[in-house]
Amino acid sequence: MTTTTRERAGKSKDIIKNDGKTFFEFTDRITAFNGLKKDEYPDKGEVCCRLSTYWFEILEREGIPTHFRAFVPPNVMEVEYLEIIPIEVIWRNFVAGSLLKRYEGGETPGAGIEPRLGARIPGGICEFTTKFEAIDRLIDRQEILDNRWLTREELDLIREFTRRVNDIMNEHLLEKGILLADFKIEFGKNLAGEILLADEVGTPDGCRFWDAGSYVEGKIESLDKDVYRYEKGDLSDAYATIMQRICG
Ligand code: TMP
Ligand code: ASP
Repeated sequence: MTTTTRERAGKSKDIIKNDGKTFFEFTDRITAFNGLKKDEYPDKGEVCCRLSTYWFEILEREGIPTHFRAFVPPNVMEVEYLEIIPIEVIWRNFVAGSLLKRYEGGETPGAGIEPRLGARIPGGICEFTTKFEAIDRLIDRQEILDNRWLTREELDLIREFTRRVNDIMNEHLLEKGILLADFKIEFGKNLAGEILLADEVGTPDGCRFWDAGSYVEGKIESLDKDVYRYEKGDLSDAYATIMQRICG
């Protein structure tokens, strides 16, 4: 007899365990501002599942180890079961979102960074937040080490994987006229203790995608969850557009 269990894995995905296998179901749920705003949009789960599949396959080919095992159309993915490392890793190429808010609140920008929306961040920056606190809180390397969430070597490896994920996604997106302003990824450890890229990657839920042509003209055209966060248009249209532009 096989047993199937389902639980929530984050705000927009369910985790299904069946016959010793683990699956992520990408639902149509969407939330923002720590769950204060929530809705459902048709086909949103399918878009995020297809885009994650697209990127996981590219990243695996490029030597980044990931939890991706198989795409189960239209909105389910088989994954390797991991123990999630309790941090979110953010890479930023341009000033936006909570970084802009921090500058507006008086934080001094790093060398060479202009504190305005859309300013390019030379070389990019990697930041960490907590994952399992009620509100994601920015943390530094020392707090991660002090909590024994990772060793120094593991933290360096995660930063290096994140830098490579950024380089690989950027290379593909630039050909398609899309700027990757920033993104968030997560990592976990498998039973062998190896660190793998987890969760989802390269979706409009976890990345800021900007149209490169509009950027050159001095405008920011969002093709991601900012459409929903800041009511800039119809989310289903924006998500269908970005999927079409990335995966064809
Ligand atoms: P932030 O500027 O709001 O900190 O977001 C940075 C990036 O991380 C952006 O691409 C959106 C993504 N992100 C998530 O995927 N989940 C979250 O809970 C938050 C706050 C941001
Ligand atoms: N994912 C977070 C939430 O659900 C924040 C965000 O993406 O804006 O509230």
